[in-house]
Amino acid sequence: MTEGCSFSDFITSVYVGKWPLLALSLTALLFLSADMLRRVVRQSKFRHVFGQAVRNDQCYDDIRVSRVTWDSSFCAVNPKFVAIIIEASGGGAFFVLPLQKTGRIDKAYPTVCGHTAPVLDIDWCPHNDLIIASGSEDCTVMVWQIPENGLETSLSEPVVVLEGHSKRVGIVSWHPTARNVLLSAGCDNQIIIWNVGTGEAMINLEDMHPDVIFSVSWSRNGSLLCTACKDKKVRVIDPRKKKIVAEKDKAHEGARPMRAIFLADGNIFTTGFSRMSERQLALWKSDNMDEPICVQEMDSSNGVLLPFYDPDTNIVYLCGKGDSSIRYFEITDEAPFVHYLNTFSTKEPQRGMGYMPKRGLDVNKCEIARFYKLHERKCEPIIMTVPRKSDLFQDDLYPDTAGPDPALEADEWFNGKNGGPILISLKDGYVSTKNRDLKVVKTNVLETKPATKAENISTVQKHVSPQPSVKMEDKLEEVLREFKSLRDRVILQDRRIARLEEQVAKVAM
Ligand SMILES: *[C@@H]1O[C@H](CO)[C@@H](O)[C@H](O)[C@H]1NC(C)=O
Ligand SMILES: *[C@@H]1O[C@H](CO)[C@@H](O)[C@H](O)[C@H]1NC(C)=O
Repeated sequence: MTEGCSFSDFITSVYVGKWPLLALSLTALLFLSADMLRRVVRQSKFRHVFGQAVRNDQCYDDIRVSRVTWDSSFCAVNPKFVAIIIEASGGGAFFVLPLQKTGRIDKAYPTVCGHTAPVLDIDWCPHNDLIIASGSEDCTVMVWQIPENGLETSLSEPVVVLEGHSKRVGIVSWHPTARNVLLSAGCDNQIIIWNVGTGEAMINLEDMHPDVIFSVSWSRNGSLLCTACKDKKVRVIDPRKKKIVAEKDKAHEGARPMRAIFLADGNIFTTGFSRMSERQLALWKSDNMDEPICVQEMDSSNGVLLPFYDPDTNIVYLCGKGDSSIRYFEITDEAPFVHYLNTFSTKEPQRGMGYMPKRGLDVNKCEIARFYKLHERKCEPIIMTVPRKSDLFQDDLYPDTAGPDPALEADEWFNGKNGGPILISLKDGYVSTKNRDLKVVKTNVLETKPATKAENISTVQKHVSPQPSVKMEDKLEEVLREFKSLRDRVILQDRRIARLEEQVAKVAM
């Protein structure tokens, strides 16, 4: 402050003195430094966020993390479990570990192992902490129900198998607000949106991407998608109208993979490579992508930058595959829009990364993000906190966040309805409630029968067992199949009788 005073005294003396040219240039300098100063001291409560890896005994150890060449995160986390794609001989498998199951993981620990080729991507259902989806090189998507307390034996029977892709399935992603709506993207360059409750492929986006789809992201209320494709285009898609509503060619000019995610305000954040192979980030308006809102160059490493986003604080965390750091940025509507906050660095490179939803964080420790970093043979939680002295709930750090309840049912969404996430307060910490079991009722099997009968059958099913097991489901399916074949026979006989009656009538005439 005193420095500033003496400096302005000096300025005054210059102005009243006889050096007008010097005065002019000093004025310019002053304006410049005021602007710089404002930028440097930009107020942010996240300026001092710091990351810390947990102690060694809090890690998950002796895990053979997958080596498959595909740039997904290999790890998915929710408030109950951490799931990790692992090396498995002759098939595809992943671990589902209760969060508290830290330490050495025994070789015989049960896995989820129904795929016949490596698993490429996994995603926890945001509306049920016991349901996880997986996409695999075997061209299928599977949806699994994990027992409340974790697996005691290996799980090879999914609740449902979703078949429709003709090549490996590299991306699975649940709809953020509609129950039982799941998206998958395959190396057949198709996106399929499934109603998991009926096992049906409802929407097939097949002619939009001429090459491999690197990433797909739902908008905040799930009305739109944005994709990054190997053809260097970023597309904004209305999936229910099967229409591309905006696109940008060469969003990043380099040939290496891009990523694109929707932000809460509808803007799109991308990462990619420049023509000179420098890593870049950029921000775009989703309705007009002609020019970026901003582009920033980062460095010249070559790992794909996986973005993880917190819509409540508008912070983006960038984890480069193969990097040993997490860089984070706050996004605001003030230039330069994407503000670098800090870097968390370690020595070991990351093979993959899991990202805990907000409701899984410890608000009493001012934890604002938690990562699950995959090393070659272990998974190490990294905790990001805002340093605060108070023990009180910091409501400015924790605006209400997306809770586990869906805003819509699958049918409503497929019929055109939208809904934003149902928010909850984290004030008293998040307490998980009992999850209901996922029921798959194959309506496509019932299609040919009157709806009322179908209703009655499902009532019977409910009476027999409130939580139908996979076996029950199978039995039901078998009965239905038999029913259908009997019905078809009756129809055929009907037609035959009608034909015979006609002939008899003709003969009688
Ligand atoms: C959903 O989001 C879109 C834009 O992303 C917006 O136009 C629409 O109003 C939203 N609808 C609801 C119900 O939130
Ligand atoms: C359902 O079954 C009950 C008897 O179990 C019958 O009375 C009723 O009419 C059936 N409902 C429909 C809609 O078929």
